[in-house]
Amino acid sequence: MHLQRRQRFLEAMAPDAVAILFGAKLATRSADTHYPFRQDSDFFYLTGFTQPNAIAVLRTDGGPAFTLFVEPRVEAEEIWTGNRPGVDGAKCDFGADEAHPMGEFSDALPKLIAATKTLYYVPGRNKAVDAHLVQINEQQRLRSRAGGRPTEAQMDPRAILHEMRLFKDAEEVDTMRRAASITFEAHRQTARLAKGGAYEYELSAQLDYEFRRRGAAGPAYESIVGGGANATILHYINNDQALCDGDLLLIDAGCELAGYASDVTRTYPIGGSFQGAKRDLYEIVLRAQQAAIQAAKPGGGLEQIHSAALEQLVSGLVGLNILKGSIPELIEKEAYKPYYMHKTSHWLGLDVHDVGAYTINGEARKLEEGMVFTVEPGLYIPAMAEEVPPHFRGIGVRIEDDLLVTPDGIENLTGAIPTQTDEVEAWVRDS
Ligand code: GLY
Ligand code: MN
Ligand code: MN
Repeated sequence: MHLQRRQRFLEAMAPDAVAILFGAKLATRSADTHYPFRQDSDFFYLTGFTQPNAIAVLRTDGGPAFTLFVEPRVEAEEIWTGNRPGVDGAKCDFGADEAHPMGEFSDALPKLIAATKTLYYVPGRNKAVDAHLVQINEQQRLRSRAGGRPTEAQMDPRAILHEMRLFKDAEEVDTMRRAASITFEAHRQTARLAKGGAYEYELSAQLDYEFRRRGAAGPAYESIVGGGANATILHYINNDQALCDGDLLLIDAGCELAGYASDVTRTYPIGGSFQGAKRDLYEIVLRAQQAAIQAAKPGGGLEQIHSAALEQLVSGLVGLNILKGSIPELIEKEAYKPYYMHKTSHWLGLDVHDVGAYTINGEARKLEEGMVFTVEPGLYIPAMAEEVPPHFRGIGVRIEDDLLVTPDGIENLTGAIPTQTDEVEAWVRDS
């Protein structure tokens, strides 16, 4: 799989070119402790290598097609941090044609790029290598009478890689389906805990537990577990307040499975029944989400999906007297923005906000087989929104699913997680 990806990447590179790609490093948490390691998604996509501090070199200039520089095996260090593949493992287990200890990269760099016309490289990741490349090129320029050859062009490898990553192959789709089904179970087991007096962190811990015991690495992003007005804070991750019966609870939580994210939001009625203003707002968002999913079509675009959601959100807000005026005019003037401030969709894959261009030559791109994206309309009425009748203030609702474009339509990967009010209520009441 990674070999095929590297072959496609090499085919897309210019001739006589070298690509240098950095893996992620361990990030310091505090003093001498680190955050859990997470490989750079581009690096993982091309190599499958999941150890910190590696560099991949891909070449179309006649040199070895795939070289890895990795942390070598050192028994005294591995006792503390665990086994590493090392140089031999880089070749045997990860298919490198050549592998070297990381410490040799700097000395190898001048020779690596000596005959290169085009360098694929992302500056800003490693200042020492950035500076070294500038120095090597200047030296080559000064030596031009004696045959020195500076690289002629520097390209961004992400232009190739991110286009590749946007289209998921059968194996990636299978992983994302499994991530969706783990997320189904995690939401189900957590919805039952949405009772007055429970703390948001208890539900967050339940999500972690369900993700991990089912094989996921954990959440794909910090889980958002927001009761009451906390649901109106888009990236609320404190998750430290008590839940109150009758309030809504917004849970935006998905797992990371084999590198791939699911991204699911459901809004649950704490105590098990949607009431009054909360039911009114929930039903508007539900209609918006259904209309948005209906609008998703191969050959269509994310803008149409967003428009379909906006139409329902704005007409719902007019129906509740929160907005006043003609629906097209309110949409045109973006009068909904105080209550719906984000877009309806984003790409999904190795990253939760995945890579891939949203426009091509300034035009919105069309949906094609293999793309995965979210549909996530919401309404967030700030607690301080004095222009809104008091009973609507401090209520947040979002409903989010993950959609796959198939050869003949759309598959809702997370559609089994209920959204209809009676089914959502039943999940909360199930004890
Ligand atoms: N969980 C982040 C998002 O929905 O985009
Ligand atoms: Mn989300
Ligand atoms: Mn999302």
